[in-house]
Amino acid sequence: MYKLIRPLLFGISKDPETVHNLALSFLRLGGVFPIPSAIKFFTKVDDEILKQKVFGLEFKNPVGLAAGFEKDGKGLPGLEALGFGFVELGGYTKLPQPGNPRQRIFRLAKDFGLINRMGFPNFGADEAAKNLSKVKNLSMPLGINLAKSKITPNEHAVEDYLYSFSKLYDYADYFVINVSSPNTPGLRKLQSKEFLTGIISAVVGYRDRQTVKKPILIKTVIDFSFAEVDELLGVCENYNIAGIVCTNTSTSREGLKTQINEMGGLSGMPVKQKATELIRYIHKANPKLVIIGLGGIFTVEDAYEKIKAGASLVQIFTGFIYEGPFVVKKINQGLARLLKRDGFKNISEAVGKE
Ligand SMILES: Cc1cc2nc3c(=O)[nH]c(=O)nc-3n(C[C@H](O)[C@H](O)[C@H](O)COP(=O)(O)O)c2cc1C
Repeated sequence: MYKLIRPLLFGISKDPETVHNLALSFLRLGGVFPIPSAIKFFTKVDDEILKQKVFGLEFKNPVGLAAGFEKDGKGLPGLEALGFGFVELGGYTKLPQPGNPRQRIFRLAKDFGLINRMGFPNFGADEAAKNLSKVKNLSMPLGINLAKSKITPNEHAVEDYLYSFSKLYDYADYFVINVSSPNTPGLRKLQSKEFLTGIISAVVGYRDRQTVKKPILIKTVIDFSFAEVDELLGVCENYNIAGIVCTNTSTSREGLKTQINEMGGLSGMPVKQKATELIRYIHKANPKLVIIGLGGIFTVEDAYEKIKAGASLVQIFTGFIYEGPFVVKKINQGLARLLKRDGFKNISEAVGKE
């Protein structure tokens, strides 16, 4: 059905952000009683085999919405009604910023990919805290993704992340330190051991002084050598980091069918294989580290592949844009079927079992 209307939707504007904003307006209707119940009637997948406890939180199913889609929290009831098991909000920065000038998202239809150079448009941590304090009655875990403000030099990144982390601490169940977006100049340098250690020790120190200790994860660059991944894993071990969100978008343009010369991060089908390889590597190197696996998930087979490579949870972004709102239900239903077919009693048993 969505495949029939997709050309119409994509035809509304050449700028995918216009369609994205329209979709968000519809999702916000999900906050208006009784619409969520009506949507759930079509989307609900309630299967014990999909339920698991990960880094201390209960997940009804493993399919989450990746960071970058929802920022002000108003779309959350609609997203939950679509069947997402969790949502990662943000990325937020300490300071409000407009992001890069539009057009800043490009469709690569032949490749089932996107290039984006959003540059974290957001109202800043103070405003985000105000908006998120109004979010109520959700029964799924929420993550918050934090990045550095564009105008803050890397030398002051620690204070920048710490400010947002402490402002938003009450409003999420887990936090993701994003040092992997290619769209803020110099941000990816923060993933080097020297910078990352400073940021992580500051946020972990803050967290450890709170009554409720919330899990902290790091979102990784995809264009990494295994030696660089090893360095990242060292920091995770030293600071008892709960997990890795694997991965962010890529600056590579290798193997694309689409002729395109736009700066930004590539996502979707073209990054699928590389992201899975990285998940596999991280899981083998440290099976205790929880992995949220993403990058090019469109179908149940894509999601299952990431789980078997070592991801406990998965997220989608580009696949959600191309496959439409019912993809969440399809993946969850399909996962329950595949897990039963392969003799697993619970999804957690399948993690890393290639
Ligand atoms: C338009 C757009 C905006 C994004 N914004 C963020 C962001 O704010 N923070 C972040 O960590 N990742 C962001 N991402 C990256 C996604 O969360 C995800 O890591 C990446 O797209 C790979 O997953 P996919 O292939 O399912 O899209 C963004 C991606 C897109 C396409």
